[in-house]
Amino acid sequence: LSDNSLGRSLLMVSFGESHGEAVGVLIEGIPAGTEIDEKRINEWLARRKPSTSLASTKRKEDDTVEILSGVYRGKATGAPFVAIVRNKGYVDDFYSFAEEGWVRPGHADYPAYIKYKGFNDPRGGGRFSARITVGFVIAGAVAEEILKPLRIEVVGYTKSIGPVECPDFDIDNARKRYEFETRCPSAEHDALMQEEILKAKREGDSLGGTVRIITGKLPVGLGQPVFSSLDSELAKAYFSIPAVKGVEFGAGFRASKLRGSQNNDIYVLSNNEITTLTNNAGGILGGMTNGQPLIATIAFKPVSSIYRPQRTVNVKKIEEGILQLKGMHDACVIPRAVPIAEALTYFVFADMALRGGFINER
Ligand SMILES: Cc1cc2nc3c(=O)[nH]c(=O)nc-3n(C[C@H](O)[C@H](O)[C@H](O)COP(=O)(O)O)c2cc1C
Repeated sequence: LSDNSLGRSLLMVSFGESHGEAVGVLIEGIPAGTEIDEKRINEWLARRKPSTSLASTKRKEDDTVEILSGVYRGKATGAPFVAIVRNKGYVDDFYSFAEEGWVRPGHADYPAYIKYKGFNDPRGGGRFSARITVGFVIAGAVAEEILKPLRIEVVGYTKSIGPVECPDFDIDNARKRYEFETRCPSAEHDALMQEEILKAKREGDSLGGTVRIITGKLPVGLGQPVFSSLDSELAKAYFSIPAVKGVEFGAGFRASKLRGSQNNDIYVLSNNEITTLTNNAGGILGGMTNGQPLIATIAFKPVSSIYRPQRTVNVKKIEEGILQLKGMHDACVIPRAVPIAEALTYFVFADMALRGGFINER
């Protein structure tokens, strides 16, 4: 296991930098015979592209996957799978400030410079750019295929952007999320959120928000207590997405204000099947799925790159100054975070399914 890896039976290693040659992923443990469809992976990648109408970034991310190993005639061979997406459409000139030593407030520039003694690639945030989530998404597309026998479907949607929050949607209503620019599956809230993003953009500012992840009913017992409980593994994966600042399952922090009598999900029989009347647990008890749908909420901060002059420090010259950023930034990354969070959910589920014997390892 390395610090850039996630999972065990299904293991991914993330590699690449924002302005390097490519970003990508190495995956071990894909059961031989799993279908690997490049077209489907590219459809996944297209969902994380910046929106053209919200024009949140000037970087054109026309991402196309190149599979380098582990696939023969469209099926996984059982050997290590390596896939990359070449980096195109970036402009190094916008990052001369980083080469000069100016650190962006709210980005990883300062701790990275100290930790890696100035040897890290600072262009476009290097390893700390959300470009690297291209590899997460490829891994998610593969994991979705591995999970097919369990009929697990993961759906994410934008739950809030800044002050605008939509109601809770079930999986049937949330499925149409990609028909909306903001990935919020309600025309009314999508319009309000778009307005909010464009307002922040006009003001040279950025906005945070939340992504909700839901599933249909799940098999009981997915998750490996105690340190690999499903919630710990999911939280670890979600916190690896840049800009994530909070993760909740089910009633989450709100449960701390409830009484047991209000929070307990009462078991009942429905057509002879065990189910619960409510889902405050978010589908997880004791670190294992309890058969109810997963409900996770992931909170993102407003990203650091804003178009206002900001005070900061030059770590090479050790002097104060004013930083004015140029080009290529998202005013709000929440819509783009939806497929990334979905992908990591599929990946953790697939790893847990293999580790728990729900699917045969190769
Ligand atoms: C899809 C996506 C796009 C992002 N784009 C930007 C960006 O344009 N500018 C920026 O400052 N941060 C962006 N971020 C967040 C930074 O990468 C992140 O804030 C930074 O690495 C520091 O890490 P932390 O916020 O998790 O502490 C993006 C995050 C995501 C999920």
